[in-house]
Amino acid sequence: MFPIVLALTLIFSSQLEAELQVNFYRNTCPNAELIIRQEVQRAYFRDRGIAPGLVRMHFHDCFVRGCDGSVLIKSTPGNSAEEDGPSNAGSLRGFEVIESAKARLEQECRGVVSCADILAYAARDSIVVSGGLGWDVPAGRRDGQISLATETIDIPAPFNNLDQNLQAFAKKGAHTIGCSHCSQFSNRLYNFSPANSQDSTLDPLYAMQLKQQCPRGPNGNVDPNAVVFMNFSPTAFENSYYVDVLRNRGLFTSDQTLTTSPDTLSEVRDYARNNIQWQTDFADAMIKMSQVEVLTGNAGEIRLNCRAINP
Ligand code: HEM
Repeated sequence: MFPIVLALTLIFSSQLEAELQVNFYRNTCPNAELIIRQEVQRAYFRDRGIAPGLVRMHFHDCFVRGCDGSVLIKSTPGNSAEEDGPSNAGSLRGFEVIESAKARLEQECRGVVSCADILAYAARDSIVVSGGLGWDVPAGRRDGQISLATETIDIPAPFNNLDQNLQAFAKKGAHTIGCSHCSQFSNRLYNFSPANSQDSTLDPLYAMQLKQQCPRGPNGNVDPNAVVFMNFSPTAFENSYYVDVLRNRGLFTSDQTLTTSPDTLSEVRDYARNNIQWQTDFADAMIKMSQVEVLTGNAGEIRLNCRAINP
């Protein structure tokens, strides 16, 4: 639990906001933000799942070695990288959008725009294209040169309880868009505890729907590839997540436990009532998250290919 709490404390520490700048590429690559936005939009109109994929990828980047693009590095025969670690393996999506933006950026201004920044811009653009409020992205991150599968253990797990999640997750209404693999929550449906096979904090009707979408196979396990939408309007970025949580329709334990303390419950109620307030607070939380432990100045490198460290 300690690394999680540490990471979350860092997220909400304003001291981290010093080194990055809005409009960082104004002189060195003036079209950078435009190019990235175009690539996100193009991908989104082919597949709406790209938007939640990119938001989650940015979050998972920032939680491991800070927002340094390390999540983008591919595994090699000698190194199992973050993309293949716990919480990430087989469930990250959107790599190709970062790659296509990077290819255009390298043509436009070679060796200037970091992959970590591309991901931060792409996450913002994904929220906007899904109907959310945008924000100015502070930039100037440099790319990390280390990516280890073992370190993704720092990413919070869906069965975490409130104590483990408290500081960050009042804001984690990002689960208003996107999908989840059934295996991430099937313990709540089939083998919750010795006394109750089903989690009693889950709305029974919702549990029934989830069981239909995530049936168990002959071996007793759910299909590892089966996915469900995380709420009823999975591509629209709005506050319905909080309404779902109030109705015991939070998909993960980590979502549902937001109702178990008076403080977080009242925050959930406020956000369920006030979409604009939540959108604004979400944008602020993303700006803070996107500055965790960033590399700046001469640290790290500007990767030429986001999927591999420079030769
Ligand atoms: C307690 C903290 C969190 C936990 C336990 C958690 C857990 C999960 C899990 C298990 C999934 C499903 C992955 C899959 O099976 O494909 C998921 C999806 C997602 N998460 Fe989280 N998450 C947390 C916080 C966050 C935060 C802070 C953000 C954004 C800043 C976020 C954004 C997303 C998005 C957008 C998706 C959908 C991804 C897609 O559709 O490809 N999550 N999360």
